[in-house]
Amino acid sequence: MSFLKIENLCVHYPIRGGFFNRIIDYTYAVDGVDMEFEKGKTYGLVGESGSGKSTIGKAIIGLEKVTSGNIYFEGVNVSNKRHKRLSQYSRDVQMIFQDSLSSFNPRMRVRDIIAEPIRNFLNLSDQEERKRVIELLSIVGLPEDAQYKYPHEFSGGQRQRIGIARAVACNPKLIIADEPVSALDLSVQAQVLNFMKDIQQEFGLSYLFISHDLGVVKHMCDYISIMYKGRFVETGTRKEIYTSPQHIYTKRLLSAIPDINPSERINKQRKRKELEALYAQNESNYFDQNGRVYNLKPVTETHFAAIQDTEMGGV
Ligand SMILES: Nc1ncnc2c1ncn2[C@@H]1O[C@H](COP(=O)(O)OP(=O)(O)O)[C@@H](O)[C@H]1O
Ligand SMILES: [Mg+2]
Repeated sequence: MSFLKIENLCVHYPIRGGFFNRIIDYTYAVDGVDMEFEKGKTYGLVGESGSGKSTIGKAIIGLEKVTSGNIYFEGVNVSNKRHKRLSQYSRDVQMIFQDSLSSFNPRMRVRDIIAEPIRNFLNLSDQEERKRVIELLSIVGLPEDAQYKYPHEFSGGQRQRIGIARAVACNPKLIIADEPVSALDLSVQAQVLNFMKDIQQEFGLSYLFISHDLGVVKHMCDYISIMYKGRFVETGTRKEIYTSPQHIYTKRLLSAIPDINPSERINKQRKRKELEALYAQNESNYFDQNGRVYNLKPVTETHFAAIQDTEMGGV
């Protein structure tokens, strides 16, 4: 059973211009997206920069106004309802960002950063709060005295741990992780990802894991949605996306994952060239006359692709 459901979500930003600064057009940042979240599962949201991934995340937690469509949390319509800041919903859905340095107040000590949601949502005594902060630090593998330091005194990987500690402080159901490791070195990326997996099991968390890189989400996600120009071009289980991609955009993203094996690298390069040629020839088959991604059609019970019936199978 899903606890969070998004139906036909649209977020359109007005573009202003002209002498009177009137609205002359809209950016269709998110344009008709459906998602459902189950407990304990990880959902990947992948697409190139500007495809609308962050906007989906922000619309879910209410940082961005929903133009149309609905968000249901445990059966209750919560679209545009985040202004009730202390509601159960804003406690249950937390977000972590790529660059935690700019999302933390630089003049706040780690203790106060982590305790912020606790002070908003739980009524703990000073001593209980201190105990909880130390417990959270140990959950994310940081020493007790980290609480007295400031964010800039930590490395990027440690700061992401602090962000995670803050996000899990009040036992949320869903954490939206917007490119949480994109700014980190490869070795540190793996550490943070493994660690996120571990605490997922401990807390029964669900993740919406946002990334521009299909390689990064590969080991994290149960389900993956591929996004292009505000719409989903394909969605399915991890296996379906990696082993039988249907949409050419998914295939292009897959072919862009770097390979460490040199012989495979040459193979990949060739495959990538073929795909690019095919894409150049058939672009019109994948998008309608306005360049808009088609509606999703079922491939299997869990796999959907925005493709015309005649294009199924393909390369
Ligand atoms: N506050 C905003 N006002 C106007 N346009 C925006 C705003 N935020 C994002 N956009 C536009 O919406 C589109 C999607 O942006 P975003 O969701 O940030 O993409 P992603 O996270 O996939 O890189 C982009 O074209 C971006 O320029
Ligand atoms: Mg983004």
